[in-house]
Amino acid sequence: MMRLDKLLCHSGLGTRTEVKKIIQQKRIYVDGQIVKKGDIKVDENLSVIEVDGQRIQYQPYLYMMLNKPAGYISATEDHDGKTVLSLLPEYDYASLFPVGRLDKDTEGLLLLTNDGVLAHRLLSPKHHHGRRYYAKIEGVVTVEDVLAFQQGVILDDGYRCLEAHLDILNVDEKQSDIEVEVYEGKFHQVKRMFEARHKKVIYLKRIQMHHLCLDPDLPLGKYRFLTKEEIDELKQ
Ligand code: URA
Repeated sequence: MMRLDKLLCHSGLGTRTEVKKIIQQKRIYVDGQIVKKGDIKVDENLSVIEVDGQRIQYQPYLYMMLNKPAGYISATEDHDGKTVLSLLPEYDYASLFPVGRLDKDTEGLLLLTNDGVLAHRLLSPKHHHGRRYYAKIEGVVTVEDVLAFQQGVILDDGYRCLEAHLDILNVDEKQSDIEVEVYEGKFHQVKRMFEARHKKVIYLKRIQMHHLCLDPDLPLGKYRFLTKEEIDELKQ
């Protein structure tokens, strides 16, 4: 048994505030009866729950994509700074956590879920799932850098990276725009790969993780639920 309002939020009906409003508008039926309070207990497997006549199916897991702004830490708790979870205050009951980390100054795609099995699979080093980044690099990125990334650059601690794909988008003498796809998630990986080539990352944004692409219509600091197709692709 669980609280009706929690079940409705988990099913993607809306945030806690939106769900409260829908209940107040008397649009929810449980086993054929109008419901006026969100704190009643329902059976997530047996109760027939409808909104505006449409049956709601309980979803135990939530999957969100966040367009992370700089200045937020990819953790569930931090004593000194703002965490990415503070950008989703309506879901603080849902035990969401970020799947992997982006540095505090990195922007872009961050998956948040409470599905530990999927998170583990996506992060497992043995699967080599791709992570694609857009970056601005100080100075000129060259074809030699592309080849070095292909061969696996050696980081400051002696670790040889897996092959990575570097695409040069635009170059002038001050700055280069690139995209890079890496197949592992070492600490500060992209920044350290460029450091190994004596180059500095001045802006970094993740645009893809495995099959999941950052929604170009999602403003910085905003989140949305993944679609069923996106969840299925991630689970492949
Ligand atoms: N590589 C980095 O250097 N930083 C990130 O945040 C992600 C990948």
